[in-house]
Formats: sequence, C-alpha cells, structure tokens
Amino acid sequence: MMRQAGRYLAEYRAVRAEAGSFLNLCFDPDKAAEVTMQPIRRFGFDAAILFSDILVVPHALGQQVAFEAGEGPRLDPIADRSGFARLSARPDPAIVGPVYETVRKVRAMLAPDVTLLGFCGAPWTVATYMVAGRGGDDQAAARLFAYRDPDGFAVLIDQIVRASIDYLLGQIRAGADAVQIFDTWAGILPAAEFERWAVEPVARIIAGVKAAAPDVPVIAFPKGAGYRLGRIVAGTGADAVGLDWTADADFVRREIQPKVAVQGNIDPLALLAGGAALDRAVDEALANYAAGRHIFNLGHGILPPTPVAHVEQMLARVRAWRS
Ligand code: CP3
Repeated sequence: MMRQAGRYLAEYRAVRAEAGSFLNLCFDPDKAAEVTMQPIRRFGFDAAILFSDILVVPHALGQQVAFEAGEGPRLDPIADRSGFARLSARPDPAIVGPVYETVRKVRAMLAPDVTLLGFCGAPWTVATYMVAGRGGDDQAAARLFAYRDPDGFAVLIDQIVRASIDYLLGQIRAGADAVQIFDTWAGILPAAEFERWAVEPVARIIAGVKAAAPDVPVIAFPKGAGYRLGRIVAGTGADAVGLDWTADADFVRREIQPKVAVQGNIDPLALLAGGAALDRAVDEALANYAAGRHIFNLGHGILPPTPVAHVEQMLARVRAWRS
C-alpha cells in the first residue's frame, strides 16, 4: 500500500514522536527499520517499502531540506543556475549510508518471501521541490525554470539522474529486491516536456540500474500520465507501471498490461470513506486488472486520517477474492 508506513498507524506516530523530526527518523536505521516493519507485522503485506523520502537525494547533494510539522517539506530553493554551486556531484555517503543500513536491517528481519522495495523520486518531481523549495499544486517554479532555461534545467535533471542511479544501486546492494521511481508530478507536463523531463531521464535511470543489476525489477509511477503511460512503457524500459485512480481501464488492459505489469489503483479517498464505496473500488480494480499481471495497491499514498479498520476491510475483500 503506498505510504503504508505512516501517520494513520498509532505505532508509527509513537516512533515518529521519539525520533523528534521526520528526517531524524529517516536517518536512524533502527527506527526506520522498525517503522518499515510495522505495516508488515500488522497486515501481512506481500511487500515492504523502505522507510525514507524522495527528498533524501537533494539533501545528500547538499541542499538544505527540512520538514515543517503539518506543512510538508521546505528546501532552500534553487530558482536558477546560480543555485547549482551549492550542489555536490555525488550523494554524500554520510547521508545515504544510514539509508542503506536500514535496507540491510529490514532485509534481515523480513521473511524471505516478502519483497523489499527500494525507491527514489523521478528527476522531474524531485526537481520541482528543489526549484520551488516546497510542494504546491501546479509546480509553476520548475515549469518556468525549464521554459526560461531548458539547458540549465537539463543540467539539474542530469545531476539528479546520476545521483538516483547511485542511490538505487546502493539500496539494491544492501538488499532491495525491486525499486520504484515516484513521479508524482508527471501529469502536469505538456507532451514535449513530458518526453524530455518525465520519459527520457527515467529511461536513463533505468538503463543505469539495469547495467549493474539487470534482474532487479523497476516500477515507474508517473502519476496523472493518463494515455501517456504508453510513452513510459515504450520509452523507459520499466518492468511495471503504477496506475493512479484516474486510469482508463480499457486503455490499460489493451495497451499497457500485455507489455508490463501494473500496480494500483484504489483512490485513497475511497479507502478513507470505507463502506460500500471501498468495496466497489476494490471490486472494480480486481475486475479491471486482476486477469493480467497486477499488483493490488492504492493509486496514491494512504491519507493520515484513514481508519485502520478500512485497511482491514480492503485486505479481507482482496484476500477473499484470491482464495
Ligand atoms: O511507506 C512508504 O511508502 C515509504 C516511505 C515514503 C515516504 N515518502 C514517507 C513519508 C515514500 C515512498 C515517500 C515518497 C514521497 N515523498 C513522494 C512520492 C510519492 C507521493 O506520495 O507522491 C513525495 C512527493 C514525497 C515528498 C514528501 N514527503 C512530501 C510532499 C511530504 C509531506 C506531505 C505529508 O504527507 O506529510 C513528505 C513527508 C513524508 N514522507 C511523510 C512520510 C511518512 C510524513 C511525515 C511525517 O511523518 O511527519
């Protein structure tokens, strides 16, 4: 389940409070391993996902990153090329080392048949936070940077590509069985920019990972990509794609599933609502995709106010269908 370790779990909130800040939690291998394991113990999921964040990469490149309580991430914005001087060429081993240590600890704790997923953010999504210094709903700052100075923006993207290859291979060497690339903001790009910033950099990350780890599956999640999922499949070499809840099932069955596995795609708001709406969402996802290669999941991260009972309701329905 996307964001399966998180604030909807009381046991997560307890460890998070002990850690003090969100980043302290990410960089404490014992605590990060503990919160990675919590949803596995509680729900018996088939896969664990490393507890960390996509903004660890800019942090490891030397950009100031902080998480303000209740407000999301805050970075020291890089609005133009003059900000590049602050960034180092490679991720700082002192920063990413504890993340790899978390992967080793989790792999040692997990049963052998439970998959451990590593991850990073896609360069476009990571760049949107690096440029704006915060989240938003239209990512205007990064789009504007890329229109005004596409070559400069490409330098930033290239740096994130190299750092991400390094970072994913570090996770794989430490024991990650598969990796996922989160492109939360892929859906807001026009076609040509989608090709340049959401397809091509992800293709380079996947090629770099496959060159050293050819058997490790890579899942791409270009949220909001709609029919351009076809471009991700044709253009990146991903082994699977994540679907958000707006996916067109006929299109996905016809054009995507014959080529790669799909993951998704329950609306996190249907999970929050529970009841008949959740049952219907589960039944629809299974009817739409389960005849082909399908990893049942949400279409985006679970929301903090989601009752645990709704997660149990969803799992009971999926498991009853499977048996
Ligand atoms: O369980 C898991 O999925 C593993 C851990 C994970 C987190 N973030 C933990 C987290 C993963 C895979 C992510 C990815 C991530 N982080 C994305 C891509 C996927 C997506 O959700 O779109 C993005 C865009 C981020 C950046 C980020 N991190 C934002 C915008 C925020 C603030 C919003 C929020 O939910 O608070 C975070 C914080 C964050 N990352 C939390 C967690 C559990 C909450 C922080 C806390 O506990 O205080």
